[in-house]
Amino acid sequence: MSRRTQGDRRPLRPAGRLAAIVVMTAAVVLVAASPSQAAGPLRTVSGSRFIGYAANADLLCSNTAACTSGSNPTYRGIANSEFNQVTPENALKWDATEPNQGQFTFTRADGIVANAVANNQIVHGHTLLWHSQTPGWVQGLSGTALRIALQNHITAVMGRYANNPAVRSWDVVNEVINDGSSPQLRPSFWTQNYPGDFVRDAFMFARAADPDATLCINDYSVEGSPDAAGSKSQRLFQLVQSQKAMGTPIDCVGLQSHFIVGQLPNLQQSITRYASLGVSVRISELDIRIPLPGTSAQFQTQASNYAAVVNACKAVAACSGITIWGIDDGHSWLPNSCCPEGVPLLWDSSFAKKPAYDATANAFGPSSGDSTPPTAPTNLAASNITSSGATLTWTASTDNVGVTGYDVLRAPGASGGTFTVIASPTATNFTDTGLAANSSFRYQVRARDAAGNLSAVSNTVPVTTSGGGGGGGCSITLVTQTQWQTGYVIQPARVTNTGATGITGWTVTVTLPASHAITGFWNATQSVNGQTVTFHGVSFNSTLAPGASGEFGFQASRPNGNLALPTATCTAP
Ligand code: XIL
Repeated sequence: MSRRTQGDRRPLRPAGRLAAIVVMTAAVVLVAASPSQAAGPLRTVSGSRFIGYAANADLLCSNTAACTSGSNPTYRGIANSEFNQVTPENALKWDATEPNQGQFTFTRADGIVANAVANNQIVHGHTLLWHSQTPGWVQGLSGTALRIALQNHITAVMGRYANNPAVRSWDVVNEVINDGSSPQLRPSFWTQNYPGDFVRDAFMFARAADPDATLCINDYSVEGSPDAAGSKSQRLFQLVQSQKAMGTPIDCVGLQSHFIVGQLPNLQQSITRYASLGVSVRISELDIRIPLPGTSAQFQTQASNYAAVVNACKAVAACSGITIWGIDDGHSWLPNSCCPEGVPLLWDSSFAKKPAYDATANAFGPSSGDSTPPTAPTNLAASNITSSGATLTWTASTDNVGVTGYDVLRAPGASGGTFTVIASPTATNFTDTGLAANSSFRYQVRARDAAGNLSAVSNTVPVTTSGGGGGGGCSITLVTQTQWQTGYVIQPARVTNTGATGITGWTVTVTLPASHAITGFWNATQSVNGQTVTFHGVSFNSTLAPGASGEFGFQASRPNGNLALPTATCTAP
């Protein structure tokens, strides 16, 4: 997809008494805003890139899941008006979410996510596997127990947000590259106690927990050239390369970018090299620290350094955006024991904008002033429906400036469920693949313009995939009525006749996760073969007219703490 960025060849609004520099040649007109006219808010000028902040759950939300107010209203106001992306600074780390084995707490993370949804921001989850901020109980495990604990943790934490369209991406592994030149991986309890390849396993568990999420590997001191022999960048590059060669689902590289003023690497070149591996690249934890207390010259250099980071990201299509590691200098994680320097952010400790703010905004480019969204796409239709996919086509949107692309949204089931963005094509068609047989989905499409304005959604199109093995005509939806650490109740398990004619019987095949077992069932007959359980309808729920549904239910135990839930398929004769 073309990633045209804001500020390029965009007509200048009347600039009052500010001078515009106009350079004309026969073929090109370049217009630049005076840098003294600070653009902003940041989220209105960042174009197709996200601009985000690391969120402090206390300042933003007073540590509540609803997050309707924070302990610092000024912080909260800036967070919600300036940024369109957020990474919880600490609330999704292992010590925050699962301090004791199997006991999950999400109050702080839920609050940050709820606030993001309310303010049209996307969320990056940070982080699932790390050597730091990980409870002692994890560090004390080894062998299969450690592997199961990792799988359960990733399944539960990612699974909680898997149907939330705002939560787009995750740092699956954090800081696993060794600071020293060998071995490749940082020595830690992971390298010592884990049975096998924990990097690969973590990404595989993550893909299974949320197949739509962008999965990242994140690290520091990797912002220099991956071509520099023996560098940490090169070790990261080689790890991603070798993992991808084995099919490990790594989608993204996060460059933390904790920089010192005046000491920036050639980021554009590095981003380009990482992107050659077929991943997106993000600037994930940007801050630029200054020896304290900081001179005005250093604050100016800090400003131009921030602008250089923005320009490097804008210059490479694969750079998805920038997250700044905090809002104001008063609440930065710096200075700390590693780094005596501080004041690294865009606002000072009184929440006044620093030169770095204006430089960042101006580097993104003056606001286009375009707030007109494209028209909604029309005539969305599905064709070529198979047992695993469907092709969608629609009529193009129009826009006062120009449509830059579309978002395809999908919701599970024939009703209910949440629409999630599954693809962002530039053409007016898209083929979805990898769907389950005999399953119902709904699709919508919306359009985007260069200023990030989104259209309303198109008409909704339902799709039911055909039967895989010659069966067909029914779908099954498992509703989790209640669950606890060691069990759950599926009620209802709803069978729907998706065919054009009536059915007089159905077979639902449920696959239970490892070591789960049925402890009770109702309104069906049952036969068990290992982890595969087959249910048939009874007198009052097996004869179904087209579109009609019948229900049954079951209860299961999961004594090993494997928090996954069962899946099911339906066939009708
Ligand atoms: C830091 C937080 O900002 C601090 O509040 C916390 O005390 C320690 O962790 N690399 C990372 C981040 O991946 O999670 C770290 O965040 C900063 C370095």
